[in-house]
Amino acid sequence: MRLLKSIDDCIRWRNSHKKTLGFVPTMGALHEGHLSLVRISKKKCNTTIVSIFLNPTQFSENEDLDSYPNTINQDLIKLQDENVDAVFMPSANEMYQNNQQDYWFDSPLSLKLEGRSRPLFFKGVTMIVHKLFKIIQPTHTVFGKKDAQQLLIIKQMIKKNNYGIKMIAGPTVRSKDGLALSSRNTYLNIKETKIAHNVYLGLLKIKQGLGSGEKNPEILKNTFIEHIGLFDELSIDYISIACDKSLDEIVGLINQSVLISTAVFLNKVRLVDNFSYSPSM
Ligand code: PAJ
Repeated sequence: MRLLKSIDDCIRWRNSHKKTLGFVPTMGALHEGHLSLVRISKKKCNTTIVSIFLNPTQFSENEDLDSYPNTINQDLIKLQDENVDAVFMPSANEMYQNNQQDYWFDSPLSLKLEGRSRPLFFKGVTMIVHKLFKIIQPTHTVFGKKDAQQLLIIKQMIKKNNYGIKMIAGPTVRSKDGLALSSRNTYLNIKETKIAHNVYLGLLKIKQGLGSGEKNPEILKNTFIEHIGLFDELSIDYISIACDKSLDEIVGLINQSVLISTAVFLNKVRLVDNFSYSPSM
């Protein structure tokens, strides 16, 4: 496994690989969710590269950039065990040398859902993913459905800029009790970990409602709100049932494909989860 620590090294390595190249961008603190994306890339592509870069521009000042888990040694062992071909781990200085002129993708989707609570988040995400795409020039990239809005915006950015990169979406990997794996789950103490999966259980209430023919989004959202309300430690940032393309909230009855997504605070930790539903399912 090659460790590429500078942009020049990465470009040189890239130019010596002519067949399909799969790219999995990450911020490190790797778990089974990340590794599942690596496995998808390995299956699909001749060569796989993973980036580990804790991207400062997607964190706002009151967020957890300084305390974000750093497990770089374990991360590298995990990637080695997966037989990843290369890991790109540049410095923030090099990635943001001329940050005045940095490109970012301005999508109307960026101010909805996650963007409403985190207005600069997708500016930072698209800025870094654009830079990484330009340096690595992958033929394929694998993103997780766990961050469905990010996936959608990056898909749009790929199309708009004609990067010629194929997007592959990986399913959300969960713990046994249903909690979506996340690097931020390491912030949870034992008591909180036992409560966290209720976000998933709340979403399951909506899924069951849809399954039994309920089409009114407000009634469905209320089943989630009632479930989360059972726990003093949980508070809802948002619960949304939206068009899975425009991310506009559904008004009236649900007769189309939708994304059901939520962010819930467990004390100070923000848990994000979602599932997709289509009436033909
Ligand atoms: P990070 O949170 O490290 O996630 C990297 C990738 O792993 C993303 O595509 C994310 O959706 C996916 N992922 C996270 N948890 C998952 C799970 N439980 N199951 C399946 N996939 C999961 O997302 C980012 O980093 C950053 O915004 C990044 C794209 C790297 C830009 O900085």
